[in-house]
Amino acid sequence: MFNTGILSIGSYIPKKKLTNFDLEKILDTTNEWIIERTGIKERYIVEEEKASDMALKAVENMLEKRIVKKEEIEMIILSTATSDYNGYPSTACILQSKLELKDIPCFDITAACSGLIYAISIANAYIKSGIYKKILVVGVEKNSDILDWNDRNTAVLFGDGATAIVVSSDSKNIIQNIETSSNGENYKVLIVDPFIKMEGKEVFKYAVKEGSRLIEKSLNKLKLSKEDISMYIPHQANIRIIDGISKKLKINKKLFYSNVEKFGNTSSASIGIALDEVIKKELLNVNSKVVLFAFGAGLSSGIVLFEYNEKI
Ligand code: COA
Repeated sequence: MFNTGILSIGSYIPKKKLTNFDLEKILDTTNEWIIERTGIKERYIVEEEKASDMALKAVENMLEKRIVKKEEIEMIILSTATSDYNGYPSTACILQSKLELKDIPCFDITAACSGLIYAISIANAYIKSGIYKKILVVGVEKNSDILDWNDRNTAVLFGDGATAIVVSSDSKNIIQNIETSSNGENYKVLIVDPFIKMEGKEVFKYAVKEGSRLIEKSLNKLKLSKEDISMYIPHQANIRIIDGISKKLKINKKLFYSNVEKFGNTSSASIGIALDEVIKKELLNVNSKVVLFAFGAGLSSGIVLFEYNEKI
């Protein structure tokens, strides 16, 4: 079995900013309510771009770091709930065409806000078994397309964005554990048909309970204590969910990274965008153990625990 790690990362945020004050003009809501109940102050949305355009920009951002060459990519796994076309072709194939990469397998996956973790888990399995060495994993969401802009329960929560990660056997940022889990009996509490409809309180409770359970499970498997982790990077849905998990696990909330106030919930892009920001701010040291974890529609959840040893 080969080691796997996170070799490089990039991200993309669209230009158009939408503040809570902008939303006050179109919805029966207030800046104070949104900040108090969610921690979100603003989010960014695309105008003309499609998911594949955002994905391409995230990949280009990653390639600029010159850690990975485009031609080295052997597979693309893309997570999105907002593909360019309904059904098919996959947005991964459209991205492949935009990247001008020939003869590699490309496909999309659906695991909502847990999608990036699920995609990493698939890449991890391919690499561990020795089939490939470098797999591009993309999380991209054009949530603005599936929001009902008359529904204050959901419209204030989400934003658009993309992230690109290369998972590889050539990385020293070794992935030490991955867990994924689903809870299909509750599928109705968060659905897109054709817009996002959500029972917010149910999702909230699941997120706190499941996030805490997965962190404990992963730490127990590796015989690590909560203090061994330098940083927890959760899916950015609501600051109260993140605070709820830190409180439940009795972990200092300063160890939980959050940028939800700037971007809202960018679904399967959120953890990558947050990790990229953490790297840019140089918040990790060599040997830092990092926990990435997500929860979302399905219901679904997942965690990746890796050790940071070299710049991504
Ligand atoms: N502005 C003002 N009032 C709002 C509002 C908004 N944007 N959205 C809802 N409200 C109102 C509700 O209508 C309700 O009014 P009522 O008491 O007159 O019925 C009141 O605020 C309280 O609503 P409630 O649903 O109890 O609020 P909450 O504290 O549970 O917060 C969420 C609502 C959606 C922010 C919260 O449940 C949540 O974040 N859930 C998880 C959502 C999520 O992250 N989903 C994606 C996961 S991947």
